[in-house]
Amino acid sequence: MYGTAWKEERTPGLTELAIRTGFRAIDTANQRRHYFEAGVGEGLAACYEAGIVTRADLFLQTKFTYVPGQDHRLPYDPHADLSTQVAQSMASSLEHLRTDHVDSYVLHGPASGHGWTEYDAEVWTAMVRERDAGRTRVLGVSNVSLRHLQQMTAAGAAPPAFVQNRCFARLGWDRAVRAFCRERGIVYQGFSLLTANPEVLGHLIVMRIAAKNHATPAQVVFRFARAVGMLPLTGTSSAEHMKQDLASDAIALSDDEVRAIESLAG
Ligand SMILES: NC(=O)c1ccc[n+]([C@@H]2O[C@H](COP(=O)([O-])OP(=O)(O)OC[C@H]3O[C@@H](n4cnc5c(N)ncnc54)[C@H](OP(=O)(O)O)[C@@H]3O)[C@@H](O)[C@H]2O)c1
Repeated sequence: MYGTAWKEERTPGLTELAIRTGFRAIDTANQRRHYFEAGVGEGLAACYEAGIVTRADLFLQTKFTYVPGQDHRLPYDPHADLSTQVAQSMASSLEHLRTDHVDSYVLHGPASGHGWTEYDAEVWTAMVRERDAGRTRVLGVSNVSLRHLQQMTAAGAAPPAFVQNRCFARLGWDRAVRAFCRERGIVYQGFSLLTANPEVLGHLIVMRIAAKNHATPAQVVFRFARAVGMLPLTGTSSAEHMKQDLASDAIALSDDEVRAIESLAG
């Protein structure tokens, strides 16, 4: 999945380039502080006009972000109740992305790092309403711990289709959360697979596998992520890296190599 964070005025061009290169899933957020969602929409429109893809060929994912995660450029009325903020944020996302629905709508992060709160329950109920109204196909949560997921489940919340987390190799590549997801058919989306794990990219095991496959260590990490059932995100700004990231699917990894990478840092 191609991630569009931190691209600012390069967002339209890089979104278009990613689609031209072969990406079909795009991740963004209605959080101007880190994403330029309207720029993503501009890039998508350029692809439609050029006849490269239609809306139906794409998987579009965006997010609802609480006020503390935003700067002054808010996509909703900060004085409105949370349910209204979700509805306003979604309406603004659809306008930015020039579509009548997204494929996945993600809660960018729970209100508290410590657990699933009543605020999250209210937001999630509003997100379910958006799904039921056809404005998103599925829902997801991001930046969650196992505790968040367990409490969310215990509270009787509708289960998410996706979990999107920063994936640290030293935590067994988020082992506990991935196991929770696997048991429930939730797809785990991993981000910062390269930037959170420099020790992996320079590890002898990974370098050897890369050399054997005439690949880069980054490609080995993405291929590994797929092998353990993750949907990896890349936000590269380089045309060459876009091609390499997509081509990483062709790397041959044995079960022993997957196990070795899975356990090399934690
Ligand atoms: N839910 C959340 O809170 C959250 C938080 C962070 C990110 N995300 C999502 O995840 C996406 C990816 O973010 P990220 O944190 O994983 O970092 P990223 O933006 O993908 O950055 C990866 C870094 O690694 C470098 N790189 C070197 N070789 C590469 C290769 N072969 N392929 C890709 N990158 C390579 C890139 O440089 P080059 O540009 O030169 O290739 C870049 O500096 C974001 O755009 C966003 O959509 C979500």
